[in-house]
Amino acid sequence: MSIAILAIESSCDDTAAAVVLDGQVRSNIVSSQEVHRLYGGVVPELASRAHQEYIVPVVQLALEKAGISARELSAVAFTRGPGLMGSLLVGLSFAKGLALSLQIPLIEVHHMQAHILAHFIEDPQPNFPFLCLTVSGGHTQIVVVRDYLDMELIGQTLDDAAGEAFDKTGKMLGLPYPAGPEIDRLAQKGQPCFAFPEPSVPGLDFSFSGLKTSIRNFLLKAETATPGFKTDRLPDICASVQHSIVGILLHKLELAADHTGIREVAIAGGVSANSELRKQLIQLGKKKQWEVHIPKMAYSTDNAAMIGITAHYKFQMGLFAPQSVEPLARWHL
Ligand code: KG4
Ligand code: ZN
Repeated sequence: MSIAILAIESSCDDTAAAVVLDGQVRSNIVSSQEVHRLYGGVVPELASRAHQEYIVPVVQLALEKAGISARELSAVAFTRGPGLMGSLLVGLSFAKGLALSLQIPLIEVHHMQAHILAHFIEDPQPNFPFLCLTVSGGHTQIVVVRDYLDMELIGQTLDDAAGEAFDKTGKMLGLPYPAGPEIDRLAQKGQPCFAFPEPSVPGLDFSFSGLKTSIRNFLLKAETATPGFKTDRLPDICASVQHSIVGILLHKLELAADHTGIREVAIAGGVSANSELRKQLIQLGKKKQWEVHIPKMAYSTDNAAMIGITAHYKFQMGLFAPQSVEPLARWHL
């Protein structure tokens, strides 16, 4: 018997659906919500309204592209958390209704666990145990991955996430939300000529709020001394900020690998799409003789294929959710 899963992801500002058939991604549809650009960040109430508008066509398209009818599905999976409550509710309610009407099981998925398991969508897949640096708009974590569903958090941010550091800096620079991809693009035309102090945080934890403040102070000072500085030196500023964030991330990842002795290392989450992080991780991996795993772009940022692959493993273990399941805005790994 084959396992056909319809997966739904609606934790933030992307409405996504995918069909995973026997562990193979048959379709992967993501509809990004443009409405937030006007506000320089995600507006939760607008996000849930947009999810309500997009969810039916996105699911329909996912089924169509996979060439499968709803009646052939074995289970419906959804992101239970962490994320925005209103956004999570839309995906969860839709999944519940569909599972109930088709009389098939529901599978709840942890968003951060799914980012990590995106590495099992295609070959080559990591071997257990491996270390994963999971970097997104809301999280920055170092995780020891012992098995598909056996993960231990060994380091995390004490304040802002790496993605937030990109997005908030972008806002100071007048870039549209989300600023991560834009900073990445502009940085390629500049040089990292400005240095920002690296925060001193004990152990394997991170902090990005100090960096944000030093960037703000630096920009204020430079702009006062040389009006037009922010515009004239935009590519260099972007390259410098990116260099700092990537440096902080890789420093802690290296500590974690040395500390645990694990030599297989992966990155996941939206910020893992960053070209400088990818490049420097490959270089560091060569130096440290790590086996490095970098997800495909489409599986780095939010998507439903990663929810589907996680649900595939849960299905095999009979890990189903009851109809009474509720979303969790905060949910520890
Ligand atoms: O995982 P994700 O798509 O959504 C969350 O779960 O938060 O991550 C979104 C974050 C945003 O902060 C965005 O600016 C950042 O990932 N991001 C990037 C790049 N692409 C997306 N940051 C730096 N460079 C990129 N190329
Ligand atoms: Zn994410």
